[in-house]
Amino acid sequence: MSGKGRLDTVLVLDFGGQYCHLIGRRIRDLSVYSEIAPPEIGPAAIAELGEKYKIRGLILSGGPSSVHDPGSPRCDPAILEMGIPVLGICYGHQLLARLAGGDVRRGATKEYGATRATIVRPAGVLQGMRGREKVWMSHADTVYRLPEGWEMLARTEHTPVAAFRHADRRIYGLQWHPEVVHTERGQRMLANFVFRVCHARRGWTMARFVGEAVKGIRRQVGPGRCIIGLSGGVDSSTAAILASRAIGRRLVAVFVDHGFMREGEPEFIQKTFSKFPMKLQCVNARERFMARLRGVSGPEEKRRVIGEEFIRVFEEEAAKVGAEHLIQGTIYPDRIESGLGKHSDKIKSHHNVAGLPENMKFRSVVEPLRDLYKDEVRKVGAQLGLPRRLVWRQPFPGPGLSVRIMGELTDEKVGIERKADKIVTDELERARLPRLPWQYFAVLTDTRSVGVKGDSRAYGQVVAIRAVESREAMTASFYRIPYDVLERISTRITNEIPQVSRVVYDITHKPPGTIEWE
Ligand code: XMP
Repeated sequence: MSGKGRLDTVLVLDFGGQYCHLIGRRIRDLSVYSEIAPPEIGPAAIAELGEKYKIRGLILSGGPSSVHDPGSPRCDPAILEMGIPVLGICYGHQLLARLAGGDVRRGATKEYGATRATIVRPAGVLQGMRGREKVWMSHADTVYRLPEGWEMLARTEHTPVAAFRHADRRIYGLQWHPEVVHTERGQRMLANFVFRVCHARRGWTMARFVGEAVKGIRRQVGPGRCIIGLSGGVDSSTAAILASRAIGRRLVAVFVDHGFMREGEPEFIQKTFSKFPMKLQCVNARERFMARLRGVSGPEEKRRVIGEEFIRVFEEEAAKVGAEHLIQGTIYPDRIESGLGKHSDKIKSHHNVAGLPENMKFRSVVEPLRDLYKDEVRKVGAQLGLPRRLVWRQPFPGPGLSVRIMGELTDEKVGIERKADKIVTDELERARLPRLPWQYFAVLTDTRSVGVKGDSRAYGQVVAIRAVESREAMTASFYRIPYDVLERISTRITNEIPQVSRVVYDITHKPPGTIEWE
């Protein structure tokens, strides 16, 4: 974000992945911009960031380490001397106490889950808090005593110093996690820090974002033409609409139908995007994908072949268009994760098939959503006129239904899977559940089972129903579909798909299972 007025910004120092992103998102919910920074960031780098953003506060996030571990991450103590307000959360709280010379004991008490904190002094971050607040704890190290010049603000049964502040500098610590919903008034605590302690001004709105992103795209691509791979997911769709607003028909969106799309998907994409002033190229590549996949049955090999073939198709389309720039729907967590080298364990090779082909040459890669979290992308998408059904749709893997069909792919198996998937989706969506699961779909297990259909013996396919709850797909728990809905799904699948003789329900969490079957 550039622009005349620098955005008031809170920097969140990352001491442990998921916690820091949650804090970043909560700050942005307050309409104040937040950025994630590496834990060792020093005054010079903060000053440099200050040319772009007005740095109003620093938050040291929680994290899995103990301050007593030799290699545990530290902040540069010099940043505490910059006059910028600081809030330490959990690990950050312990780190601040230790740097100040306080007594932090390793594993002295373990508190986990909801706890009542006694507010001794409702000041600063704790302004307006009642005598006892419901807070959420997850820590082993504990702050026992603070040195002179520091003041305890709250305690719990097991934690003598659960919140503190410096007597005259704007430095605060909270042992609990204000960013999680289980801390009843956590958002109010963060708002206190942002507005009362840091005096930040609200400025981060999606309307402002859209205006600046459109200008940014125009600046970056000049008079050039652009291409984007459209997958039908919310990220690439929003990036495409944003880019089309900036450069209109100089954008060509390419939708590659590899043949493993959900029922009605190519038509849905065509209809949705025909309303926007961009060129949409829908490529029917079903036959060539199927030809390349003949004889392939291993999950990794399937993904590799599909990813590679996607690149070939995309390359051919790009050559026809003469595009100089590639637009991508990369979002903030994607960028941070790859930048910091997190999640390096390869469980499956995820082919974001709408992603950047590595060996392709473009003058530039434009990532208009690079600073946004997923919920912000949805807001922008809705604001730009994408239909609700697209904005709120469940995640769908790049290789599509192919990773939900075990073993070698055949036209018949794809047909069965597509029908079964549509039944699961339709029934869940019309079941008036309080909230739809994170993902829900059918899997063709490639197992055969004996059954009775009509009056005769059947030896048909087994379909599994998969539905999971998740936040960011790193972990998941199986969703408890009501029995009457399960019954409707099972009856419809066995009645409407003659090749299926049995339906089972997958009750595996992740870990140990993954969300997809392959
Ligand atoms: P797993 O199966 O690893 O999936 O638990 C985690 C999330 O990622 C999605 N997924 C993919 N997305 N390309 C994608 O763009 C892929 O190859 C891919 N494989 C899995 C999956 O649907 C879930 O949301």
